[in-house]
Amino acid sequence: FGTLKAAAAPRYFGAALGVPHLMNFTHDPLFDVDAVLQFSGATPENEMKWMNIEPERNMFNFTGGDIVAAFANANDYTLRGHNLVWYSQLAPWVETLTGEDLWNATVNHITTVMTHYKEDFVLYCWDVVNEAFNDDGTYRENVWYTQLGPDYIPNAYTVARSVNSGSKLYINDYNTEGINNKSDALLTVVQSMKAQNLVDGVGFQCHFIVGELPPDLEQNFARFVAAGVEIAITELDIRMNLPPSEADIIQQAKDYTTVVNACLAQGEACVGITTWGITDLYSWVPSTFSGTGYALLFDDNYVPKPAYNSTIYAL
Ligand code: XIL
Repeated sequence: FGTLKAAAAPRYFGAALGVPHLMNFTHDPLFDVDAVLQFSGATPENEMKWMNIEPERNMFNFTGGDIVAAFANANDYTLRGHNLVWYSQLAPWVETLTGEDLWNATVNHITTVMTHYKEDFVLYCWDVVNEAFNDDGTYRENVWYTQLGPDYIPNAYTVARSVNSGSKLYINDYNTEGINNKSDALLTVVQSMKAQNLVDGVGFQCHFIVGELPPDLEQNFARFVAAGVEIAITELDIRMNLPPSEADIIQQAKDYTTVVNACLAQGEACVGITTWGITDLYSWVPSTFSGTGYALLFDDNYVPKPAYNSTIYAL
């Protein structure tokens, strides 16, 4: 099992990939070797988000998403569509819409994007709604909730289902990895949508801090699996204060093992693990959580870390 993808099979082991990386590293042998040999899944890091794919109303730009999708399909990656309905990285024009006009624009967005990708590529799944809850378990007051109420969630899945894309429909969030108010709320919505055949999978982002993983990952994943959906780890990274200490590097290796084991404990219901990038050089962490980094399996120079070895061993 000399690679992540071989060790993970039959599950996929994916990474977030962005056009900037694909363009910069088309001629970088390290990128090619690591990306193609180590991984078997991809999520476009930003390219399929609303602000990039429909920056003006009904003006679609699939260029970036198509580059990632073509790379993924050419290398037989499991490709995750990310995402359709999300309050962040939303095109500003959407925020100004109200009522039925907002809903019509949302239907058009979901339908047009999913139809485009269905025609030209193979996508394993779509994150239809991303980050819909607050930590206390209430609904996040995004433009859809404010304008349309909580039914925007099942209604978005009804539209996505009607596209008949063959892709599984996921709901994706963070801070839902352990048992808490937020995961309780997500589970309630998942149970209701599963009963109506609207949702197939739940994505747990898993943007973690070293040494601070929820203690009940496995139990929480299990209650979602018991609801009849599959699950995936969708955006895994485990950050630490910079510069990394020896102790944190060792703890990180243990923490990656804990996440892998919580997935494996679900049997075939946990279908894959995706890290939010390949190398720390291009990770979103340092620019988002200031003073932290070293969150992925490969360092700035593509050198595999102890966490890479522990991950392969655990898989
Ligand atoms: C992040 C990207 O990695 C960054 O490049 C971008 O600036 C912001 O978004 N949850 C998600 C991902 O679902 O889409 C986010 O990706 C990280 C948090």
